[in-house]
Amino acid sequence: MENILIKDIVKDPDIYPRRNESPKTIEAYAEALEAGAKFPPILVQRISTNSGNECIVFLDGVHRARAHEQMRRQSIEAGYWKDEILNKEEWITQLQLESARQNFAHGNALQSEDKHQQSRKICEKNWDITEQEIADALGVLQRTVSNWVSDIKLKQKAERGAIIYRLTKLGWTQGEIAEAVGLTQQAVSEKIQNLAELLKLVKSLLERGDSIEKVAEKLNLDLQLAWSMALDGLDDFQRLEMLNEKVEGLSCKPRPYDVWNFASSHDLMGYKYEGRIPGQLILQLLYFYTKQEDLVVDPMAGSGTVVDACLLMNRRCFAYDNKLESFSKRIDIRESDAIEAIRKHKAKLIFLDPPYSKKKEKEYGVESISSLSKDEYLGYFSNLSKECINRLTPDGRLALLMSDYTEEDPSESIFIHQYINRFENEGFIVERIIQCPLSPEQLHADFYLKFTKSRKLGRLARYLVVFCATRPK
Ligand SMILES: C[S@@+](CC[C@H](N)C(=O)[O-])C[C@H]1O[C@@H](n2cnc3c(N)ncnc32)[C@H](O)[C@@H]1O
Repeated sequence: MENILIKDIVKDPDIYPRRNESPKTIEAYAEALEAGAKFPPILVQRISTNSGNECIVFLDGVHRARAHEQMRRQSIEAGYWKDEILNKEEWITQLQLESARQNFAHGNALQSEDKHQQSRKICEKNWDITEQEIADALGVLQRTVSNWVSDIKLKQKAERGAIIYRLTKLGWTQGEIAEAVGLTQQAVSEKIQNLAELLKLVKSLLERGDSIEKVAEKLNLDLQLAWSMALDGLDDFQRLEMLNEKVEGLSCKPRPYDVWNFASSHDLMGYKYEGRIPGQLILQLLYFYTKQEDLVVDPMAGSGTVVDACLLMNRRCFAYDNKLESFSKRIDIRESDAIEAIRKHKAKLIFLDPPYSKKKEKEYGVESISSLSKDEYLGYFSNLSKECINRLTPDGRLALLMSDYTEEDPSESIFIHQYINRFENEGFIVERIIQCPLSPEQLHADFYLKFTKSRKLGRLARYLVVFCATRPK
């Protein structure tokens, strides 16, 4: 128990169930305080968010705190629900349930409309929670909760279906899917049987003239999945032609030369994220170096650009990252170190887009290879290339997307040939170096002025090095 400054406690509408405070209750509590009454301590919790903010939130006792404020008391006696700092995104359901339970338990019980809204909030954040669990926390009947949340449950069911189709198309086994979505293998298998029907439906809606966005919305599909169905049956060239024609701002016709220059990323592939690469570049790579149904592995997947590109091009794809960002609620990226990930599959293409040494060290976190010293970092690439060469099919390729990394002290810089040496030492042969320059805007908003004034050269060069393990026949 401790005294906490009331101004430091946040009423977080995601967690706390009462939308309106009752002036009458606050007034009555304030009067009781003035008369010498002592209230039980309020309940609070320290939380952190994925964006790095920390705060204390109310779980129970907002009216008591307001009454204290009315009496010009700056602090209030409070207890913490859990001693440690809880990550809001991970703990949201438990925080919502506990707050509901507490508020329901005491005299000034929640209004029915507050319970209604709280049950929807809880349900939206947690697909697996049962109506009975919510009902128990709120002190209402299960059928009441069922009425309140039936539309959300239906939508979640449809979304879960879309996830199952997506993972099936990416090549996951039914067992893996069942584990990921929390259903039995039997339930997954039944769902997958509807895939052919769904495909027909997508095609017929498109033929009727609906836009792909409209079809996706109508059938609760994500856009890439809807596109992958629309493109079903087409060869690679036709796929790229159609995407190029129909998707605004996506320039992706085959570029049969060794400069792939794309100014910016496109939202059809990957999530908005600083390290995201243009998916158009991956579409090219898939076109020139793989065939439909081939298996692609991306062990440093970031926002999932490669996964989405693979869906569009009908490649199977397994993706991993050792730090799942908040957007990586996306189930198709699993948590793993890159070397471990490579060991799991026999791939036709391994795509590597690692952190460029210490660039973005803070953003990628302490587990990232960007926090390694230069020697350790290059050593990691030696180990990685050893695994890669063992885990590629005989006609497989490894593609490394990389920039030179320069430091004030040139002995700390790492140039592209140093990476290439590591891969060559393990038996890889360079087949092609494709230029994929960054655009100046990607560097810095006032890039030109900053670099000109300091007489320094910015880094726009980026290379896609394509290796093979044996000489192509
Ligand atoms: C340049 S980003 C990849 C961006 C991605 N291609 C995209 O378009 O969103 C590099 C990624 O490597 C991940 N990473 C760093 N060290 C790793 C390791 N040892 N194993 C797996 N992933 C790692 C980082 O978390 C980061 O997401």
